[in-house]
Amino acid sequence: MRQARVLMLVMMTAAAFAAGAAAWALPSVPSAKFEPAEGCGCHAALYEQWQASMHAKALTDPLYQYKLEEAIKATDGVLGPFCNGCHSPIAVMAGEVVGTDTSKVSMQGKQGVGCDLCHQVVGTDGELGNTSIKVQPDGVKHAQLKDAVSPAHATAYSAFHESAEFCGNCHNVDHPGNGMHLEMTYTEWKNGPYAEQGIVCQDCHMTPGPGVTKPNAGKAAAGGPERPHIYTMTFAGGNVGLGDAERAEERLKAAAEISIDVPEVVKPGSSAKAVVTVTNVGAGHYLPTGLTEVRQMWLEVEAVDASGKTVATQRHDFGTVLKDAKGNHPVELWDAVAFHSDDRIPPKGSSIDEVAFTMPDAAVTVRAALYYRSAPEEMAKKAGVDIPTTEMAAAERVVYTSAEEKAKAEAPQAPAEGGGGSLTWVAAAAVLVIGVAAAAVIAKKKA
Ligand code: HEC
Ligand code: HEC
Ligand code: HEC
Ligand code: HEC
Repeated sequence: MRQARVLMLVMMTAAAFAAGAAAWALPSVPSAKFEPAEGCGCHAALYEQWQASMHAKALTDPLYQYKLEEAIKATDGVLGPFCNGCHSPIAVMAGEVVGTDTSKVSMQGKQGVGCDLCHQVVGTDGELGNTSIKVQPDGVKHAQLKDAVSPAHATAYSAFHESAEFCGNCHNVDHPGNGMHLEMTYTEWKNGPYAEQGIVCQDCHMTPGPGVTKPNAGKAAAGGPERPHIYTMTFAGGNVGLGDAERAEERLKAAAEISIDVPEVVKPGSSAKAVVTVTNVGAGHYLPTGLTEVRQMWLEVEAVDASGKTVATQRHDFGTVLKDAKGNHPVELWDAVAFHSDDRIPPKGSSIDEVAFTMPDAAVTVRAALYYRSAPEEMAKKAGVDIPTTEMAAAERVVYTSAEEKAKAEAPQAPAEGGGGSLTWVAAAAVLVIGVAAAAVIAKKKA
């Protein structure tokens, strides 16, 4: 039964691959046409930034390798070239990678999405997405600089590198069999407010950030001129566990804001309602984006009274759940035909949660916090990695039982009096010291 199902899937997927080959097939190019990143030594700062990024680890990433192995098992290997094609285009173009076996993969192939791949991309081949990169492997390095002169290689100006479509080649992923839009970061951006304002992926992910931090003056290469603006090769996103932790944390904390709307005074026994709003203030796409059936983002709301008793808790999980053709859910990427549920916050959009409770006899503190984790604990454990949880945003409000209680709580606190008191002591001590000194002087005079 299981075998039959697998066979069916393999046949379906294989047929779909054959039919839709143009949508993802990469040309055949030897890996010698691409330099390993170490060859880009003149750009030491850019190299260091890239090295910490998930682009540098796209093939070797343990979470990727774990999922790849599952995908290969489930489809009898058919999905291997599809997945690897985006996570290491060089290794696939050179025919070096077979499934999860990377033993024959060149250094530049192991480097996932490396310098010389991106800088020899000149456009889009066919429909945007599913690794639609158009590669021109002739050694000329393409980027946005119009006046670059290098002693090491030829350079060419590329307007394409300044566009979101450059990233969209890989940051839109469709199911290779049925065309379902699995990951749509580019499209989310394209349909959102940032595209309208002309703010592209590069402005948030290739600048020191978080947020749009342009201009970023500096040198693109040792020995090169000082420029009013250069991009960084950081590509930081939300991967605190495996990527550039510091930069990823910064971005997660800049992505969302929480506000709590709740009455300041509610009589004991009456019902109270807190309205918690989470707003996507900083991400140019949905929150979360990308691999949203794996990513975890959730809101926790807790109302606790003055004695420490919890009067209400609520949790809201964001993300997507995939379903198969029979409606089963959750299912794996390769079995998916549609979303069973889709709960994400669009750019500049908000999500609203209401938390109700009965007011106890003492003041209640309502606290809300938004958390993010790149992968579920169970998946991380199986992949042998440690994936931390990051608090993206938090807010707190107090509800009092009466106006008097509120006034008392908000009145200048006791420590102010204590402060005054200790000042009196300081003065008294000073008088005492002066007194002793004076007595000593008098005593000295007498002697
Ligand atoms: C994912 C693709 C990608 C990777 C990987 C990548 N770059 Fe870039 N690089 C770009 C893009 C895109 C730009 C231009 C950004 C713009 O104009 O909006 C750029 C700009 C540059 C520039 C022009 C100067 C500047 O910083 O603005 C240099 C030099 C450069 N990259 C070198 C490198 C080196 C060296 C590496 C590897 C250590 C690297 N790049 C990795 C995509 C990439
Ligand atoms: C050749 C395909 C390719 C291109 C082109 C590409 N990316 Fe990526 N990108 C990937 C892959 C694959 C990953 C996932 C790597 C992983 O996590 O294993 C990724 C991951 C990322 C992440 C997530 C990092 C994190 O910490 O979670 C960001 C941000 C990102 N890319 C930004 C960009 C931007 C901006 C551009 C355009 C300048 C771009 N990418 C171009 C393939 C690509
Ligand atoms: C206005 C700034 C902004 C723009 C524009 C923007 N992003 Fe992001 N991006 C963020 C922030 C902030 C995060 C961290 C929060 C998150 O994970 O969504 C992020 C996260 C990501 C991630 C990691 C998602 C995850 O959960 O692992 C990827 C991949 C990514 N962006 C790709 C892109 C691509 C591709 C584009 C252009 C099509 C783009 N971004 C445009 C701000 C931006
Ligand atoms: C067209 C490009 C593309 C293809 C094809 C692709 N991926 Fe990815 N993959 C990405 C991008 C981009 C990201 C990062 C998105 C984000 O941060 O949410 C990613 C992230 C991942 C991650 C998360 C890694 C981490 O460290 O968090 C896993 C796991 C993964 N992909 C597995 C797969 C598997 C398995 C396949 C084949 C079934 C596949 N990918 C095919 C582009 C691709």
